[in-house]
Amino acid sequence: MSGFKQLVFSGVQPTGNLHLGNYLGAIKKFVALQESNDCIYCVVDLHSLTAQLVHDDLVAQTRSITAAFLASGIDPKKHIVFNQSRVMQHAELAWIFNCVARIGWMNRMTQFKDKAGKDRENASLGLLAYPSLMAADILVYRATHVPVGDDQKQHLELTRDIAQKFNNDFSARIASLGVGVPMQIGDETVNGFFPITEPVIGGPAARIMSLRDGSKKMSKSDPSDLSRINLTDDADTISKKIRKAKTDPDALPGEVAGLEGRPEAENLVGIYAGLADMTKEAVLAEFGGRQFSDFKPALADLAVEKLAPVAGEMRRISADTAYIDAVLRDGGERAGTKAEATMKTVREIIGLLDN
Ligand code: TRP
Repeated sequence: MSGFKQLVFSGVQPTGNLHLGNYLGAIKKFVALQESNDCIYCVVDLHSLTAQLVHDDLVAQTRSITAAFLASGIDPKKHIVFNQSRVMQHAELAWIFNCVARIGWMNRMTQFKDKAGKDRENASLGLLAYPSLMAADILVYRATHVPVGDDQKQHLELTRDIAQKFNNDFSARIASLGVGVPMQIGDETVNGFFPITEPVIGGPAARIMSLRDGSKKMSKSDPSDLSRINLTDDADTISKKIRKAKTDPDALPGEVAGLEGRPEAENLVGIYAGLADMTKEAVLAEFGGRQFSDFKPALADLAVEKLAPVAGEMRRISADTAYIDAVLRDGGERAGTKAEATMKTVREIIGLLDN
């Protein structure tokens, strides 16, 4: 039981070009969720500064992610699409969360450990505090559901920890101001100001792997372009990459258990399932026993059918930067109104002078 109004929030960083993994793992879910939820989708430009501070094309990349959202069918009038830095309340709440969260929590984040590498002392403070800004993105709207890829699970757990600690630390003030919302924690019903956000993870295409190595995630930083399908690839390129995708010599199994230990086969079946909105079971019911020489052309046709129109729309929308900027401006205004309403109460809860 939760008295919070259901609201979906997610963010995508404006770094590099989007590929099939981003599309199936995130954007396609965003599109599906907008049918029956209020949704806020954000291009998180402030987060991208943790990867690269001095940037020549942050604006272009912000527009390109926005174009991908719109080309995939996200409706910016019914929902909200904007870039994070326009709504300064994200940074304001992140600061407060920096004072709620503990350094030990941040140090345990596997993404921080990976990105900081060996020389942790020399990583930016921003990279360490990244999850705190992410929690602020979500909680400044008091969002209840967050669709993300598998790799963001730990960050969402931290978001829950921050919400819970804030609700606990300020429980007396939340009660005296009467701004709490009833929610279930274990067997207890308590009043909190921030919801305990649910991740929306999973589906057959939650983890799309490299087309050249089934043990590595599909990634924009892989030096081989053959390892990924970019959202901007044309039909011939998509077909060629699928034809050249690494496979093993065996036929496809009839059941999902038979994909065990066959990462490349599992990946291609997952991609088919994700694109066709089928389960892996259903794909194998159709293709079990067939060779890759049969399956790959079917997958290539499906990928071209589903992705080529998105790529075409992306090219068309990308040419109209005035339109993209107007969408982001309008979304930013609507998001800003909601974020400021939350922050007014947060300032009150904390006891900051704000009049
Ligand atoms: N960290 C996310 C990623 O790299 C991006 C992100 C930032 C995000 N803020 C968010 C995702 C809020 C969901 C909700 O994919």
